[in-house]
Amino acid sequence: MRQQIVAGNWKMNGTIPETENLIKQLLAGDSKNERATVLVCPPFISLQAAAKALEGSHIKLGGQDMSEHEKGAYTGEISASMLLTVGASHVILGHSERRQYHAESDDLVNRKAKAALAAGLTPIICVGESLEQREAGQTEDVVGRQMRGCLNGLGPDDLKKIVVAYEPVWAIGTGKTATPEQAQEVHAFIRDLVKDIDTSAGEDLPILYGGSVKPNNAKELMAQPDIDGSLVGGASLKADDFIAIINAC
Ligand code: PGA
Repeated sequence: MRQQIVAGNWKMNGTIPETENLIKQLLAGDSKNERATVLVCPPFISLQAAAKALEGSHIKLGGQDMSEHEKGAYTGEISASMLLTVGASHVILGHSERRQYHAESDDLVNRKAKAALAAGLTPIICVGESLEQREAGQTEDVVGRQMRGCLNGLGPDDLKKIVVAYEPVWAIGTGKTATPEQAQEVHAFIRDLVKDIDTSAGEDLPILYGGSVKPNNAKELMAQPDIDGSLVGGASLKADDFIAIINAC
């Protein structure tokens, strides 16, 4: 059985005390699911406090981005080893907001993924089409190009250590979710693409769905054969909603 993951992307939300409080609520609630890995990705500034609050718990910690470089004169950047030493196991890469507001390309995401893997972090590589692209019938072209660009040069061993998140841009933070069928179609496409590179890496690849996942649609989405969990934005900021989504997996 493939690994199932429910990850909270807290984006630029929450001060350190608010982050600590949200973690406290998650740990006090029913946030454990034997079938799924639970992960939270707070802002960089809160990672250390989050790691402390999560110590000894079942919830893992991730970064929302990282630099492609190991260290040096890169003002404002955070390296893979910094994430690792603070206790992170995962890092979100190529989120559509990074692509949109920071002009991140597939090439850059590819270099970041290689740096994450070299350091021992699990990259969660995000791909997804815009509304215009979907309406123009270009979903598979766009997602295929993003996938091939982001995975360029990764061998079977590397491909067994990554996670992919399919996040249609038109569904992020908009309240519009892809239907389970729409999501499943793209997830199957992504899996086939990776299987073409390495069959077993493709079979085992956890592919998360992201984009307005809520307690009322999580179950149906995650019941699809190629959907292995979710990357949750807005709803992961409310402990009750996030717990409901964890339990829907
Ligand atoms: P959303 O965000 O759940 O608020 O749509 C998902 C994401 O951007 O990862």
